[in-house]
Amino acid sequence: MITTREVLDSAQNTVFLLSDKEGLSSIGLTGDELHYLTDKLDGKTRYIEINRYQYRWYFIYLESGESNILKEKARLAASKLFKKLKAEKITSVQVKALKEIDSPDVVLAFAEGLYLSSYQFLKYDSTRDEKSFLLENISLISNEIDDEEITHINNVVSGVFIARNLINEPVSYLTAEKLAEEASLWAKETGFNIEVFHKEKIESLRMGGLLGVNRGSIDPPTFSILEWNPEDAMNDKPVVLVGKGVVYDTGGLSLKPTSNSMDYMKSDMAGAAAVIGTLGVLALSKVPVHVIGLVPATDNRPDGNAYTPGDVLTMFNGKTVEVMNTDAEGRLILADAISYASRYEPEMILSIATLTGSAAMAIGKQGIVAMGNVPEEKFKTLSKTGYNVYERIVQFPFWDEYAEDLKSSIADMKNLGGREGGAITAGKFLEKFAEYPFMHLDIAGVAYLKTGQDYRGAGGTGAGVRLLVEFLKSYTEQK
Ligand code: BES
Ligand code: ZN
Ligand code: ZN
Repeated sequence: MITTREVLDSAQNTVFLLSDKEGLSSIGLTGDELHYLTDKLDGKTRYIEINRYQYRWYFIYLESGESNILKEKARLAASKLFKKLKAEKITSVQVKALKEIDSPDVVLAFAEGLYLSSYQFLKYDSTRDEKSFLLENISLISNEIDDEEITHINNVVSGVFIARNLINEPVSYLTAEKLAEEASLWAKETGFNIEVFHKEKIESLRMGGLLGVNRGSIDPPTFSILEWNPEDAMNDKPVVLVGKGVVYDTGGLSLKPTSNSMDYMKSDMAGAAAVIGTLGVLALSKVPVHVIGLVPATDNRPDGNAYTPGDVLTMFNGKTVEVMNTDAEGRLILADAISYASRYEPEMILSIATLTGSAAMAIGKQGIVAMGNVPEEKFKTLSKTGYNVYERIVQFPFWDEYAEDLKSSIADMKNLGGREGGAITAGKFLEKFAEYPFMHLDIAGVAYLKTGQDYRGAGGTGAGVRLLVEFLKSYTEQK
């Protein structure tokens, strides 16, 4: 957990952040230590440790630069430091920025990076007692950072961790029902409302997309409605977030073709995890914005009654879809949720999903693909937020011509476009179900990392939580 303190306790493990040598003379270093540090810094060493036996002092030099880049450098430096702390079993540190770097934002980013790096998923590791390491306290020495900001970062990290936990759970545990249960527990813990529709209700609503995908499964689907509606909400109309909750994607009868392409498909509910995480953070931080989260959930499997290529599904809004590939299942379950969103007359519908390999191929794990028909300023705000939290977005075109690929000769549309622009045709498919301004984020590239990467870790990253929370926050500040 991150806390603040006004005075430095010099006899404790401490991290000093600096971008200059100037402030070094005032912190109580011995002449030798100062000499050693200055030498190292002159030799371009960016990470220096002084071992005072009872405790360590860590000096981290951050090159000054543009604020968002500097913040990201701070998070990355924190993730490096975290490895050392873990190796030395140091569970508590103070962080102090020397004068020339004394921007609360950089210190907060550093703390956030440390905290995010400390995530572990050990539930299925029988040696977890030995491996478990808890960074108990990250204490920021500053009188400029207010408690509310610290609490908010702690909340954001909890939201990211919940999302990561859900993504990392295999389908043998995390069925659609379980996902809804876990979301309900989190709702209770944080204070947002949730209602879960089970199979019967989903049938009575005729959600043909969700039911179609679920037909090959022995586990029933769920449709969860999450809501955070504080009294002081600043928006008249809610923002509806829609998260893809495919708890496992085999591709269905159009079984996933390439080797290893199924290995990590427990992460195909990362969009749902982002929505669930976000709603909890909004509630914990009492962010004054009315937000609804919709999570359609099922696994996608081949079985005796599985939906087939060539099938025609009648969707929640009455439109018909010819299924050309059962592996394009995400758009089918999202479509039902997106048309369901109409009943809230939302200001905007924002879907988030591990929707296409095409998005991942296009920009890899460095960013989130975004598209939609909302006013351009919304993209600008999202993009700005993206750089700020370093979950960067790349806006793709959303021209109507892309929808031409979706024409079917027997139904209102197909669930598949051509090979080209696959992320966009998927987005265009969703747009057909959106009766309100629509934005879509494809997180296929960033949701899950096979090998660990700095503070994002290995496995589920929780991508989307930090982006959505800050986007929704700024969304209210603008008004
Ligand atoms: N869940 C996948 C997309 C995906 C791929 C997510 C790789 C994460 C990493 C999605 O359901 C899918 O299978 N999409 C197909 C669509 C195609 C059949 C039109 C794809 O991208 O290949
Ligand atoms: Zn699929
Ligand atoms: Zn999928």
